[in-house]
Parts: sequence; C-alpha cells; structure tokens
Amino acid sequence: MELSKICIIFSLLVSFSSATTSVVDFCVADFNFPVTPAGYPCRNPANLTVDDFVFSGLGVAGNTSNIFNVAVTSAFDLTFPAVNGLGITLARLDIGVGGVVPIHSHRVSEVILVTEGTIIAGFIGSDNTAYFKTLNKGDVMIFPHTLLHFQVNVGDSPAVAFVSLNSANPGFQFITTSIGANNLPTEIIQKITLFDAAQVQKVKKLFGGTN
Ligand SMILES: *[C@@H]1O[C@H](CO)[C@@H](O)[C@H](O)[C@H]1NC(C)=O
Ligand SMILES: *[C@@H]1O[C@H](CO)[C@@H](O)[C@H](O)[C@H]1NC(C)=O
Repeated sequence: MELSKICIIFSLLVSFSSATTSVVDFCVADFNFPVTPAGYPCRNPANLTVDDFVFSGLGVAGNTSNIFNVAVTSAFDLTFPAVNGLGITLARLDIGVGGVVPIHSHRVSEVILVTEGTIIAGFIGSDNTAYFKTLNKGDVMIFPHTLLHFQVNVGDSPAVAFVSLNSANPGFQFITTSIGANNLPTEIIQKITLFDAAQVQKVKKLFGGTN
C-alpha cells in the first residue's frame, strides 16, 4: 500500500479513536489560554482540589425578570471549569407563570427533566415536523442535536427543570434574539425572513439591534 494511503488510514483511526479515548482523567479549564475547538488547556492537576469538581448554585431560582420570564442558570465550562473536555453540562431553568424559553438551538443534544410545574416542550425536525407535549414533574424529553426547540410554562405556578447537554459549552442561538440583536439592515432582514418592517424594527428595539 502507498505510504500516503497508510497515512490517511492512520489519521482516520486516530481521529475516530480520539473521540473516545483520553490520556488524562480530566482537564479542568485553564482560562489563561484561549479556547480551542476541543475546549481549554488543562490546569495543573497538582493545584486542584475536590472543590474544583463541585458546582453549587443550581438549588437557587434564577431571576426571571425579563421579557421571556425565564432564567437559565448554567454549569457550563465558564462557570464550572471541571466540565471542560468532558462533553457534558448541566443547567437549571426557571420559567415564571406564562414564561417561555424562546425557540433556539445548540450545537449538541439536550435532555430535560421537569422537577416542578407543567410545561409544553417541543422541537421541530429538519422536515418541519413539530414534536411537542405537555410535561409534568418527573417527565424527561430529548431535543436532538441542533434542532430548534422551546419550552412554555402552561401551569399556574413557576416551573423548574434541569437540562443536560453533551458539550462543555453547548452554545445558544435564539432565533428572535439573533434576528433582533444584529446590525443587518432592516430591508435585508425583511427579504431573508418575509417579516414586515414593523416586526423587524420591533425585535431590533427589544434586543438592541441597529439599522
Ligand atoms: C500550580 O502548581 C505549580 C507547580 O506546583 C505552581 O508553580 C503554580 O504556581 C501553581 N499555579 C497556581 C495558579 O496555583
Ligand atoms: C432581577 O432582575 C431585574 C432586571 O434585571 C432587576 O431589576 C432586579 O433587581 C433583579 N432582582 C433580583 C432579586 O436580583
């Protein structure tokens, strides 16, 4: 076999196996260095204690005083550096009465566990099929990677849920916020969304966009 073919096969094997193997037990993020596609470099294990592997704070309700009446309290890499490199994250959702987690997507998949209240949760498949259902305490639902999804509190009390995502930094892209918070000219947004100018101006005003 030609050397170049052997090299290609070897590099494929390395790239496949590197997804499931590691030469370290953990890699607590060192924020003195820039992030890479694989996460942050590791802090010296000699300087770590058990407290570096513990996050406290998901027992407290977040502040839901905002237009969506929702709070997301996240134990992602920036707040919980121990998840760096491990492909796992946890967050708490507090959704006030009538509140929503507006439609959004992540780079990865998500699982939600409802612990208080009643919500409608759903996602939209890439064929535009909507999958949505009323969830109560103890219910779990999956939002497959990258698909648009949302939660709405339809109960008469605040709702609480915990979500786990399979990335140390799953990213959030909220459709309405993305459309409203940028400096794209209104006419372009109208063309690419079919929204009318008043709707575009409304979300630009809400989310700080210009033009
Ligand atoms: C981490 O440990 C190394 C070696 O023990 C030491 O030189 C360094 O100053 C420590 N860094 C921090 C941030 O404590
Ligand atoms: C909640 O957030 C609002 C809006 O940012 C702020 O005015 C209010 O003081 C916050 N409440 C608490 C308890 O932090």
